[in-house]
Amino acid sequence: MNWYLTLILIHFIGLVMGFAVSISSIVMAALLARSEPEHRPTLARFMPMMSKVGHVGLALLWISGLVLVFVYYGGFKDMPWEFYTKIAATVLLTIVVSYMAVLEAKIRRGDVLAAALMPAFGKAATLFGLTALIFAVNAFN
Ligand code: HEM
Repeated sequence: MNWYLTLILIHFIGLVMGFAVSISSIVMAALLARSEPEHRPTLARFMPMMSKVGHVGLALLWISGLVLVFVYYGGFKDMPWEFYTKIAATVLLTIVVSYMAVLEAKIRRGDVLAAALMPAFGKAATLFGLTALIFAVNAFN
């Protein structure tokens, strides 16, 4: 069993699950804007389900990433600056995604301000995810 390649595979599966949430939130926002009012309650149930996919994806990135760093790179010391930028973006992404879970709970309780804030946090999460991706590729090539 090639554990290194297995970890890279898990890392990329986490990456794909994370970006699936960003892309589906953009598509769902456009669909909701064009949909009949009677269809919106059902459509509005999609993104809270997708955000759970994102949580699993981010967890896979952190777990596979930490194992890769400590087992194959001897820890965080002596990594290229691009890698530290990537990790900073991932920490900010994790904070934003955690707060979005709080907003989701408020939205379920009918909080309209939380619903108004959600798109901006969704965009921030996509921005931090993209930043992590760009610096990940620059860090290791
Ligand atoms: C949103 C968050 C993340 C994204 C988008 C991401 C993306 C990537 C990508 C695309 C690569 C392959 C780079 C290449 O070889 O061209 C990679 C490799 C790597 N990532 Fe991440 N990653 C994320 C989070 C993390 C975290 C949190 C850690 C560590 C705590 C981590 C540690 C690593 C390591 C050590 C490699 C090198 C693997 C190798 O030997 O090729 N990543 N990551």
